[in-house]
Amino acid sequence: MRDRLSGITALITGATGGIGTAVSRRLAAEGAAVVVTDVDADHCDGLAKELSADGTKALGLPLDVSDEDAWRGVVERVVAELGGLSVLVNNAGIAEMRTVETETQESWDKVIAVTQGGVWLGMKHAGPAIEQAGGGSVINIASIFGTVGGFGSQFSYHAAKGAVRLMTKNAALHWATRGVRVNSVHPGFIETPLSRELWRGTPRHTAMVEGTPMGRLGRPDEVAGAVAFLASQDSSFVTGSELYVDGGWTAR
Ligand code: NAI
Repeated sequence: MRDRLSGITALITGATGGIGTAVSRRLAAEGAAVVVTDVDADHCDGLAKELSADGTKALGLPLDVSDEDAWRGVVERVVAELGGLSVLVNNAGIAEMRTVETETQESWDKVIAVTQGGVWLGMKHAGPAIEQAGGGSVINIASIFGTVGGFGSQFSYHAAKGAVRLMTKNAALHWATRGVRVNSVHPGFIETPLSRELWRGTPRHTAMVEGTPMGRLGRPDEVAGAVAFLASQDSSFVTGSELYVDGGWTAR
């Protein structure tokens, strides 16, 4: 697998979070040049340095995915400095613990702007660059909560992730004959440093483990493996699809 992604430049959003870091490390380990982006600029720099030290061509850039001008600037810079872009991983996402009744206009706007709008802006600005580079792959990180109603909470997050699932299929059809594949990855409950602190020992943690047919939470590197497959030519006839990395949760 070491060279499966050599010659590819991949941009990852929300790259310094639990799943984003694992994806960045995995794509780099398979030979890709990586552009790690996040609103958290300091950690971006740190991750880019870590990957560079291992011999990867890595660039850390601040990017708020809800800011269209910022997207324009980042894509232009990547094309100018790295000679093109062929993989986009739309991974950044945020959630609020609110129900259909407690959601506010403010929380709705914030979650939709980042978790849904960020994916649209990423595809809008990186898609043409990927086509220009001769084709490639867009991987949108959705969620099992983009497909089912979960626990009846995180209302705007479900709305945004459901939209990510369908935007993926719509964009896949738009680019189908132009070399740009677009797929969604739907993680189940993944244990990240943040979620470990938030959930461990709570009734929600028990519900997540017991509700998962495989009887455990997933690991970020298990999501990264699915992303690497979709980024590579091993998935050359796969577009508009949804790949569940959920230990069987949605199979019930
Ligand atoms: P995380 O909270 O560890 O990482 C999210 C990253 O996004 C952070 O580094 C944060 O700084 C960044 N971010 C937040 N707002 C941003 C913005 N406006 N622009 C750019 N970056 C921004 O979360 P985690 O768990 O790594 O999740 C990554 C993706 O996977 C998200 O889309 C999430 O919804 C999805 N997911 C996660 C699951 C889990 O169990 N951890 C389950 C299903 C989906």
